[in-house]
Amino acid sequence: MSNKQLWGGRFEKSTDEMINEFQASINFDKRMYREDIEGSIAHAKMLAAQKIISEDDSQKICAGLEKILKKIDSGDFEFKIALEDIHMNVEAALTEEIGAVGGKLHTARSRNDQVALDTHLYMRKQVREIQKLILELQKALVDAAEKNSDVIFPGYTHLQRAQPILFAHHLLAYFFMLKRDFERFEGVYSRADIMPLGAGALAGTTLPIDRNFVARELKFGEIYQNSLDAVSDRDYLLEFLSAASILMIHLSRFSEEIIFWCSREFSFVELDDAHCTGSSMMPQKKNPDVPELVRGKAGRVFGHLTALLTTIKALPLAYNKDLQEDKEGVFDALDTVKFSLSVFAQIVSGMKIRKKNMRRAVEEDFSNATDVADYLVKKNLPFRLAHEVSGKIVRYCIEKELYIKDLTLDEFKKFSPLFEADIFDAIKPETCVAARNSQGGTSPRQIELQIEFARSWLEKNS
Ligand code: ARG
Repeated sequence: MSNKQLWGGRFEKSTDEMINEFQASINFDKRMYREDIEGSIAHAKMLAAQKIISEDDSQKICAGLEKILKKIDSGDFEFKIALEDIHMNVEAALTEEIGAVGGKLHTARSRNDQVALDTHLYMRKQVREIQKLILELQKALVDAAEKNSDVIFPGYTHLQRAQPILFAHHLLAYFFMLKRDFERFEGVYSRADIMPLGAGALAGTTLPIDRNFVARELKFGEIYQNSLDAVSDRDYLLEFLSAASILMIHLSRFSEEIIFWCSREFSFVELDDAHCTGSSMMPQKKNPDVPELVRGKAGRVFGHLTALLTTIKALPLAYNKDLQEDKEGVFDALDTVKFSLSVFAQIVSGMKIRKKNMRRAVEEDFSNATDVADYLVKKNLPFRLAHEVSGKIVRYCIEKELYIKDLTLDEFKKFSPLFEADIFDAIKPETCVAARNSQGGTSPRQIELQIEFARSWLEKNS
C-alpha cells in the first residue's frame, strides 16, 4: 500500500487499523494477565540472580508489575489493540510506570517463549478447577446412588428393556467414566507442568540465564529440554481438548438419557423447576433445557479440537503466528466444560426419582426372561435349550397379553417339567437384581462395594 495512491492516505490508515485488529490477540489473551505478570516477575528475579540486570532494576520491575496486576484486578487498566497482545500491553504499561528500566524486562526473552509460559501456567490452574468440578459432580452422583440404593429400573440395550438393574448402578457407571476423565486431566496437568521459558524466539539465548531458577520459582515439575520444541508444540492444548471432548461425550450421553427419562413416555425422573423452562405457547410444557444445552455444547468442544488439530497439522517449526489461533477455542472449551459440569451437578442433585414408574416398568415387561432361562440352567438344562424355552414363554405371553409373572405353574410346566413353585420368586425384580452378584454387577452387595470404593476414591482425591 502506498501513500502515492490518490486515496492512499485514507486507505492506508484504515488498512493499518484493520490489520492491527486482525492480528491483535489482546481481546482474548488478556485473560492470562495474571500468569503473564507472574511469569515476568519470576523472569526478572532470575535476571537479577544471574547478574544480567541489577538487583535494584529487578526490584523496580517487580514492584511495577505488582502495581499493574492490582490495576488490572480492579478494572482500572486500559487494554490497547494497538499494543497487540497481553505481553506488550503489560510491558508498555510497565515502562509507563517505572520509566526506561522497564525495557530491561524483556532481556533474554521472546514473546514466543513468553506466550508458551503464560499458557502453561494458565492451563495448570484451569485443569485443577475442572478436576474440582468433576469431583463435585461425582459426589452428587454417589449421593443420589446411595439415596436411591433400593430403586430398581430397567437396564437397556439397543434402547430395548434388557434386564432389571439398580438405578444406582446406572448412576455409578457415570461416576466411573468421570473418574477416568479426572485421570485424563491429570495427564493434561503433567504436560502443562513443563516450563518453556528460556527458549527465546527458538534457539535459546546468548545470555547466562538459569531456566531451573524460573521453574523453581513457578513450581514447575520439569523444563522443556529442547528450545524449538518449547516454542513450537501445543500438544498439551490438544490433549486438553481431547480430554474435554471425551468428558463432554459422557455428559452428553447422560443428558440424552435424562431428556428421555423426563418425557411422558418414560416418566422416570422429574427435573427441579429451577432447572427447567416453560413454553411461551404451550402451558403444560416443562422443558429439560439444561441437559439439552449440555448435549448441544458438546459439539463446540469437539469443533475446537478439530480446529486446533487442523491449525497445527502442517506447521513447520518453530513459532508461526497460526499458533495464536490456539487460544480462543481452548478458552471457549474451558468455559463450556466448567459451566456444563457445574450445572450438571445441580441437575443430578435436584432430580426427583419417580420410583413408582420405574417399578412399573420392570414389572410390566419381559426383562426377567434371562432369569427364567438361568432358573432352568440351575436345574441342569443346557443354556441354549433354556434360552429357547424362555423365548417360547415370552412369545406365548405376548399372544395372551400377559407377563411372565402372570402365568400359572401349570402353564409353566407345559414349557418344561423342570419348573416348580419357586419360579415365581426367581423372576421377581428383586431376585433378578440380587442374583447378579458377580464383580461389578448390579446386586445390592456389588453396588454397596462400588459406593464404598467411590467414597474412598473421592476422599483421596479431594
Ligand atoms: N500473541 C501471540 C500468540 O498468541 C504471542 C506471540 C507472538 N510472537 C510473534 N513472534 N509474533 O501467539
